[in-house]
Amino acid sequence: MNKPLLQVTNVNKRYGAGCSHCEDSKSISVEDNRCTVCGSIWACLDVSLDLHKGEILGIVGESGSGKSSLVKSLYFDDEITSGIATISTYKQGEENIFTESAQQKRYIRNHLMGMVYQNPWLGLKMSFSSGGNIAEKLIASGTYHVGAIRERATELLDHMEIPLPRMDELPRTFSGGMQQRVQISKALANNPPILLLDEVTTGLDLSVQAKVLDLIRKIQRELHIAMIVVSHDLGVIRMLADRTLVMRHGRVVEQGLTDQILEDPQHPYTQQLVHSLLHV
Ligand SMILES: Nc1ncnc2c1ncn2[C@@H]1O[C@H](COP(=O)(O)OP(=O)(O)O)[C@@H](O)[C@H]1O
Ligand SMILES: [Mg+2]
Ligand SMILES: [Zn+2]
Repeated sequence: MNKPLLQVTNVNKRYGAGCSHCEDSKSISVEDNRCTVCGSIWACLDVSLDLHKGEILGIVGESGSGKSSLVKSLYFDDEITSGIATISTYKQGEENIFTESAQQKRYIRNHLMGMVYQNPWLGLKMSFSSGGNIAEKLIASGTYHVGAIRERATELLDHMEIPLPRMDELPRTFSGGMQQRVQISKALANNPPILLLDEVTTGLDLSVQAKVLDLIRKIQRELHIAMIVVSHDLGVIRMLADRTLVMRHGRVVEQGLTDQILEDPQHPYTQQLVHSLLHV
């Protein structure tokens, strides 16, 4: 068995001061992730996962289940409370990336990961052109040659089916679907082996959503990039993910092949999710 590209072990993420009561995760009710003593929220509780080269791992769960906290932690947007993550292509997979220096974390972000946010304003500089956004990411990862940058930007925008003249326009003026496609192009600019996508199609019209999901599948096939796709919508996960993790109140309550989870969900919460997907 190959070592996973990304291995996450027992990640905890707390919002709030914490106290001696909630230090032990077993003292936090599975029906809620708020500490009854200090009121801290445990957004992620002992979350572990493996992501293998070239696969799409889905994370599904209702709003507030800790999905964004998890991916934001992995991208170092947010500091975790405790836990380990290793990347097999980084220091032979022997270093916990969460405890690396700020400089090393920047290296990991710039070379090994891409992130696509639900809100395009978080992932794009709206005062830069689409091409400028891609250039920014390329420069961060060490590509300075203007011709090379322009060529790569053209290729990426073309991948995401964005008309070339749009390269010099501000994404602020684009439709929501097109903003997400520019955000994905930017996230892919440095050719990262790992791409994190947090509710990328949430809030888009269904037809626009279908187009973005199609493009995500296309780039995954062409670039063999490993992805973590986060969504509260099991329909999105069904379309994209090979394997799926179900989160509830900060915990992983079920995981397995997506088909298996859809056909034979084990946890009552997953059963409810699957039921509502199939009966709308
Ligand atoms: N900055 C924050 N401060 C305090 N609580 C937060 C913060 N961000 C998220 N939370 C809480 O953490 C829990 C998980 O949130 P989140 O990770 O955004 O869930 P999801 O992405 O699954 O909707 C929720 O209870 C949320 O209210
Ligand atoms: Mg979220
Ligand atoms: Zn507490």
